[in-house]
Amino acid sequence: MQLSEDYKNIVKLRFNAPNQLEDKFYATFYLGIINPERFNPDIFARFSLQEILDYLKKSHTEYLTVWFPKIEKLINDIQAELGVSDVTLTLKSFIVNYYNELTNHINFEEKVLYNFVDKLLKGIYVEKEKIFVLNHFLETHNHNVTDELVIIQKIVLNKDAKIGENSRVKELFEILNIIQNDLVLHGVIEDELLIGKIHQYIESEF
Ligand SMILES: [Fe+2]
Ligand SMILES: [Fe+2]
Repeated sequence: MQLSEDYKNIVKLRFNAPNQLEDKFYATFYLGIINPERFNPDIFARFSLQEILDYLKKSHTEYLTVWFPKIEKLINDIQAELGVSDVTLTLKSFIVNYYNELTNHINFEEKVLYNFVDKLLKGIYVEKEKIFVLNHFLETHNHNVTDELVIIQKIVLNKDAKIGENSRVKELFEILNIIQNDLVLHGVIEDELLIGKIHQYIESEF
């Protein structure tokens, strides 16, 4: 897997002061996207609660307004090039469903968890709310939805093994793999960093 310069430049914008971060930081961050299982969350420990929240919010917007429209466009281009087929229709309906699931995940997360953090940062803290929000989040949060970006590739290749040689299909599969990893990493940052920062913030501020 290789991250394009375009991709690298776009994900940099998730940070509030992207130019102040060293090359070494980015190198570790990009390696985390290439291999989320080996990502070391400690590299994000330097960021404040506000910065982590901003990073996560900007990632949400980026998935929905940059990467998924790009994926959709690639699928339309594939359909224009190869004609309508079982494979192109499968890809199209898959992406519509996936986009809806991801949107629901994001909306719920922002409404419950991020909203709670926004309030903390404005100085409003209700302990009962913390217990409800954090328990609920930890029990229900999962990014299983991301596995589907790899499964769909297998489904497509089962239907038509030769289609994998098409250059647009290769490009599509590459971006699906990158976004899948990016979403896994996003989940790790939410589960491990954001939650830890919330506890620290409450302890020091309230
Ligand atoms: Fe999220
Ligand atoms: Fe999430």
